[in-house]
Amino acid sequence: MITGANRGIGKQILESFIEAGAARVYAAVRDVTSVTPLQEKYPGKVEALALDLSDPESISAAAAIATDVDIVVNNGGILHNATPFADNAIQALQQELEVNLFGWLHVARAFAPVLKNNGGGALVQLNSVVSVKGFAEFSTYSASKAASYSLTQTIRDQLKDQGTQVISVHPGPIATDMGAAAGFPADMSDSPTVVAEGIIQALANGDFHVFPDSMAKQIWQAYQGFAENVVDAQMSES
Ligand SMILES: NC(=O)c1ccc[n+]([C@@H]2O[C@H](COP(=O)([O-])OP(=O)(O)OC[C@H]3O[C@@H](n4cnc5c(N)ncnc54)[C@H](OP(=O)(O)O)[C@@H]3O)[C@@H](O)[C@H]2O)c1
Repeated sequence: MITGANRGIGKQILESFIEAGAARVYAAVRDVTSVTPLQEKYPGKVEALALDLSDPESISAAAAIATDVDIVVNNGGILHNATPFADNAIQALQQELEVNLFGWLHVARAFAPVLKNNGGGALVQLNSVVSVKGFAEFSTYSASKAASYSLTQTIRDQLKDQGTQVISVHPGPIATDMGAAAGFPADMSDSPTVVAEGIIQALANGDFHVFPDSMAKQIWQAYQGFAENVVDAQMSES
């Protein structure tokens, strides 16, 4: 089940999963007609599921329908261009938290029992390089992605006993509508394919962190030591 599977990175994940052998993929989207082209391209393999990340009831309803899911991809998200002192900063952060944080937490909570019933499976979170490094031009988006990364770590801990693999994906600039809206130059942006391939590899290897594209790999070089020694370390709260 992939949220926001009608375009951008989500659409590529859907296509790459099917090409890698997935029998069926739920495309969880706001407008179910937006996945008609994918249903025509992959007959019998794409199920449209109505889901709005800002509407918790739609998330619960989707989880009641898609009871055979064994991989959940939290992908759908929004970005506003807002510095901390811009007029739109507070509203931007509220909207981004609603979708990128609360929406994803609702998805994790609704689908965790589904994954458990189906043997564990995996939860994939499309975080970002901005989860570990804030950028002023989209500071509120960065904050939402940092918060999502924090929740991703604790969700991993909590789902370990039911055998659910949690994956935290941290792309840099990727050539999508969001990438264009953020102002990433086309020659600095990698293809959504590298993100989808990174996820498939992490599912096979059992990895937690995925820094898939060229900029993300550079950041991972510097961040890996901290991730392994602090984020991945077993530490007691007491
Ligand atoms: N592009 C990048 O450079 C980049 C880098 C790092 C991380 N990411 C993350 O990767 C994910 C996908 O990004 P993208 O670049 O593919 O973005 P995109 O091209 O803007 O597509 C966003 C997707 O999210 C869906 N969405 C937005 N609000 C939603 C809501 N309330 N309920 C359900 N679906 C909703 C959109 O559906 P509609 O068609 O209905 O609007 C669309 O399918 C996001 O979480 C993003 O933060 C992107």
